Amino acid sequence: MPINWGILGTGNIAHLVAEDLALLPDAELTAVGSRAPERADAFGDTFDVPHRHGSYEALVADPDLDVVHVASPHSVHLKHATMALEAGCAVLCEKPLALNAEQAEQLIATARRRDQFLMEAMWTRFLPVMDDVRRLVHDEQALGDVHLLQANIGMTQSFDPTHRLFDPTLGGGALLDLGVYPLAFAFDLFGPPDTITSSAVIGETGVDEQCAAVFRYDDGTQAVWHASVRADAGRTCVLAGSRGRLHGTRAWWKGAPFELTRDDGTTETWARPYEGNGYQFEAAHVMHCLREGRTESPRMPLDESHALLETMDALRAEWGVTYPQET
Ligand SMILES: NC(=O)c1ccc[n+]([C@@H]2O[C@H](COP(=O)([O-])OP(=O)(O)OC[C@H]3O[C@@H](n4cnc5c(N)ncnc54)[C@H](OP(=O)(O)O)[C@@H]3O)[C@@H](O)[C@H]2O)c1
Repeated sequence: MPINWGILGTGNIAHLVAEDLALLPDAELTAVGSRAPERADAFGDTFDVPHRHGSYEALVADPDLDVVHVASPHSVHLKHATMALEAGCAVLCEKPLALNAEQAEQLIATARRRDQFLMEAMWTRFLPVMDDVRRLVHDEQALGDVHLLQANIGMTQSFDPTHRLFDPTLGGGALLDLGVYPLAFAFDLFGPPDTITSSAVIGETGVDEQCAAVFRYDDGTQAVWHASVRADAGRTCVLAGSRGRLHGTRAWWKGAPFELTRDDGTTETWARPYEGNGYQFEAAHVMHCLREGRTESPRMPLDESHALLETMDALRAEWGVTYPQET
């Protein structure tokens, strides 16, 4: 039996995920919901979606749905994911899980109270190359003792105060949109940091347009990262230990080569190219969890999504970035 998906929202990520669901033989994109019926129809035409709903309320009430992908801006994740959970649907919610830790707590409490599946769409964690990284680092200890992660993510987004990346009412800023990835990478490998040193550049609308931080762990490990919507910094990462380093070049997450350099000077390069945009792996994981009757993912646990937001709250507090919903 295929698993029936509904997508809530018709923006950028909704399109990318819809394309990738088509790659999974056991996934059926059954419904889409938009605040505007014409956008639901247009999306439905593009992706051949049988049920098109002109409101999110109608979408989540669709009796044929198993799981809803919440593809709205961060500021409304709590509202929309709660709506879907309360209607009885499992939820894959875009990153970050909510606007802040307090909202995440409410959402997680709803999922747990109702015994329903909820996961933050931290899609990079499910890429095939991440299986290689975990195997090399943890199982094969190919880097020896790992002491350093350096990761960056940056793009140039032209300034528009109404765009969700700049609009504080939509949870704008580089941290929540992009910084969440290197943060989650560091959490995946090392857990939450013991101390943090950070810096941010705040733009005209009061959100962080560029930010950087050093996470320090009591065992001497550091994770150094930055995120920007002002600078096309690419997306590279280096993971280094006592016996070697792993280097992900610009589009490593899209299947470009990854390089392992060992302390004997030898280098191995490999790539894990894939069809589509890369969201099929998280979607397949969600379906695997649902088929196993799980209410939470063992790879992207809810407590970790909450801890990520606690760290992002602390960073924003240091920079003086607050959202109107928080005042
Ligand atoms: N995983 C990834 O790689 C990735 C990439 C991009 C974004 N994201 C995440 O996905 C979420 C959406 O980002 P996006 O780039 O897809 O944004 P977007 O292009 O602006 O689309 C957001 C969609 O959400 C719906 N929406 C509901 N309430 C809204 C509101 N108050 N204001 C604006 N739109 C609203 C709209 O659909 P209707 O008008 O049809 O209702 C809109 O098309 C964000 O949380 C972001 O972090 C993830």
